[in-house]
Amino acid sequence: MHNTQPWRFTVSGPAIELYADVSRQLMEDLTGREMIISCGAALFGLRLAVRSLGYQPTVELFPDPSQRRLLARVGAGRPEPMTADERAMLQAVPHRHTHRDAFEPGPLPGDLLQRLRDDAVAEGATLAVIGAGPEYQRLTAILASWSRWRDLYPTSPAEIQTRAEIFRWTHETGSQARDGVPAHAFPASAGRAAGRLPQRDFDLGRDWGFPPSGGPPPPVTAVLVAHGEDEESWLRAGQALQRMLLRAASQWVFAGLQTQPLQSTSVRSQIRSSLTPTGSPQLLLELGVVRSSHPTGRRPAGDLTTGEAR
Ligand SMILES: Cc1cc2nc3c(=O)[nH]c(=O)nc-3n(C[C@H](O)[C@H](O)[C@H](O)COP(=O)(O)O)c2cc1C
Repeated sequence: MHNTQPWRFTVSGPAIELYADVSRQLMEDLTGREMIISCGAALFGLRLAVRSLGYQPTVELFPDPSQRRLLARVGAGRPEPMTADERAMLQAVPHRHTHRDAFEPGPLPGDLLQRLRDDAVAEGATLAVIGAGPEYQRLTAILASWSRWRDLYPTSPAEIQTRAEIFRWTHETGSQARDGVPAHAFPASAGRAAGRLPQRDFDLGRDWGFPPSGGPPPPVTAVLVAHGEDEESWLRAGQALQRMLLRAASQWVFAGLQTQPLQSTSVRSQIRSSLTPTGSPQLLLELGVVRSSHPTGRRPAGDLTTGEAR
């Protein structure tokens, strides 16, 4: 979220431990749900790094129940060369980014959508694709009513907190920051995407109703669904997310992500009861082909890593 990079790695003998860095947890993310999903994405990156060395990773989730911030311990297991799929995902790491502007029209290439669904299942989550028509209308109606409610209380403590955090984590053009959301991630114009789902980070006051007042919906709208509402489910959902995003980016498909409406229990239960009955909705995704790439800043490895290999 907001490119906070809320993780830390510790080298512990032959293993690497992944910790949640709670100093980077957003105040609006009270349960740490978004922080742990983000850490799950980092965990998938770590697993891929082990694969690039020619080993299958060994992964223990929450290996020490007395340390809740210790999310995973990863080691190198049996030797096995990387597959072509994994190599393509690894090559996509530098250019994958969250896309907050319009997509090219048209469907996703080939069988990509089915492969993304399979990726989610393989990681212990689900990608619920929202069909055009009644399902999309139901989703946008839920979101539109959430956004109307939000507009009624623009000075509520929660709204002020959200805006303060956006301000804290976004940067101006030319900023050298290696975390936070860069200026180029802002949409090009306020009118660019009427009819798409509301964007939390960059709410430009568009019409969130249905049908859209202009511009087509994105090629694919989907919900990332976790099995349950617990830390392990979130960590698995985060790994699923990164696996899907990297596979998609390897075919020049990028995603816009949206989570703020899902911080509301009421929105979650409405989405769950009408669209994702088999699990807990975590994140809204919009996917489509994009031909440009702006890599997002990352903190240097030295700032994230502690400990020595034995
Ligand atoms: C759990 C989670 C929730 C997110 N919610 C939003 C969101 O509401 N709006 C948005 O613009 N981006 C959202 N993002 C995208 C992040 O802002 C983005 O991943 C982060 O800034 C890093 O940038 P990158 O994806 O380009 O590497 C979310 C990401 C995660 C992991």
